[in-house]
Amino acid sequence: MKYFLDSAKMDEIRYAYDTFGIDGVTTNPKHIMLSGKPFLTAIKDIAAFIEEKNLVGFEKFPVSVEVNPHITEADEMVKEAVKLAGICPNFAIKIPCTEAGIEAARRLEDMTIRTNVTLVFSAAQAILPAKNGFAFVSPFIGWKEANGEDCRRYIKDIVDIYKNYGYYGKTQIICAAVRTPKQIVDCAVAGADIVTAGLAVYQDSMKHPYTRQGIETFIDAWDHTEGN
Ligand code: E4P
Repeated sequence: MKYFLDSAKMDEIRYAYDTFGIDGVTTNPKHIMLSGKPFLTAIKDIAAFIEEKNLVGFEKFPVSVEVNPHITEADEMVKEAVKLAGICPNFAIKIPCTEAGIEAARRLEDMTIRTNVTLVFSAAQAILPAKNGFAFVSPFIGWKEANGEDCRRYIKDIVDIYKNYGYYGKTQIICAAVRTPKQIVDCAVAGADIVTAGLAVYQDSMKHPYTRQGIETFIDAWDHTEGN
């Protein structure tokens, strides 16, 4: 399963890439706002990082960049997406899962601009993006679980549907808004292609109290071993 970093902060992207390794990045208007930069500056900085690390090429390190959320018409989405895709070949354009969004994504994929249908909250919403052969679909986990829903069945349903119809592995399932290490595991068990989460979630996933306790035990043993 691939790990994408859900952030537009360059220090976080650089840190995650250089330390534990990430396979791509997802952004959204909220992440751009949190980066403290204007939208175009933030995404151009990510494009510069891709060049610096020799990652140019969509397959090498995809970065999802969302169209202006004020846009609701397919024509306008396409126009905006073409502009964004021209900045970097690694960009997948995030389009909301609406009727206009599906239409825009179909037109963009026809132009070989890769898309990521976002704000997906049901298995039904995940079908058309795959049926149309889009690059990515982003079912959101954290927002639903924050409302008391258990998402394991929801992700498994999408995986099963994709397997039933040969979509699996073609349209990649990015489980989004992943908030906890347990949700990472749930996505992996269900067979998701990718999870996207913030830096702190991945850092938490490397920790366990027994690991810390074990290190302390071994330090103590080391220090009581004669000759050390
Ligand atoms: C995914 O592509 C989204 O950017 C993200 O996961 C949305 O969740 P959040 O901004 O609430 O973390």
